Amino acid sequence: MSSDLHAASFGSAAAAYERGRPPYPAEAVAWAVPSQARRVLDLGAGTGKLTRALLAAGFHVDAVEPSPEMRDQLAVSAGQASIFEGTGENVPLPDASVDAVVCAQAWHWVDPARAVPEMARVLRPGGTLALIWNIRDHTEPWVAALDDVLHRHTRQEIDTAPPIGGPFSEPEHTEFRWRHTLNRTELLDMVTSRSYVILLSETDRQALLDGVLALADSHGLGDEFDLPYVTRCTRARLR
Ligand SMILES: C[S@@+](CC[C@H](N)C(=O)[O-])C[C@H]1O[C@@H](n2cnc3c(N)ncnc32)[C@H](O)[C@@H]1O
Repeated sequence: MSSDLHAASFGSAAAAYERGRPPYPAEAVAWAVPSQARRVLDLGAGTGKLTRALLAAGFHVDAVEPSPEMRDQLAVSAGQASIFEGTGENVPLPDASVDAVVCAQAWHWVDPARAVPEMARVLRPGGTLALIWNIRDHTEPWVAALDDVLHRHTRQEIDTAPPIGGPFSEPEHTEFRWRHTLNRTELLDMVTSRSYVILLSETDRQALLDGVLALADSHGLGDEFDLPYVTRCTRARLR
């Protein structure tokens, strides 16, 4: 299955994405974006999970997102942001127009050979590029078991501390541990919003969801429970 097809698949699951995917902790946003920044590009903004955190921190946000369905959700959930159709390879903003770029859970969909120069183009000198991923913390046994069920069909390996290169400084890395409280319906939404699950046949998807519910029962998860996450962050400055 092509990477482009996976990248384009999110739109059909935009509502499940909004319900089931975790937000980002405020400490991660504070680490990723210098407090003196005013204008921030949220690249691959999706349904606005990071956009809302950036707005709450007081930044003016330019949210760029290729999927029309995701942009529809974004307009509802983060209406104060300026919303644009675009990609990491082609950002519809002028040169040197933003103080910071943040890309949450989306840098693995871009072509870095084209996106790194594009980030350097839209950033002001001295501006920062930050990359963020929420990763389920599988040091907790039921989460490791969940990951085994989810990866029965495919395992997407993501480098959460990628090189940036180009005109950027050597990247710095950090991580934040936290817990996302959700219910069983939201857990199933988290599963169905994953790109490879969206592209499964109806039979395989239902078998996967049955497996997740069986796991929730066997690990005694109640109606509401905590899913532990590690938020991994990378940042580099435009020289
Ligand atoms: C996993 S979602 C993350 C959305 C949002 N940033 C969040 O954290 O909830 C990945 C997003 O990347 C978008 N995307 C796919 N290819 C992209 C590209 N080349 N440039 C920018 N965004 C892209 C998808 O449409 C999708 O909205």
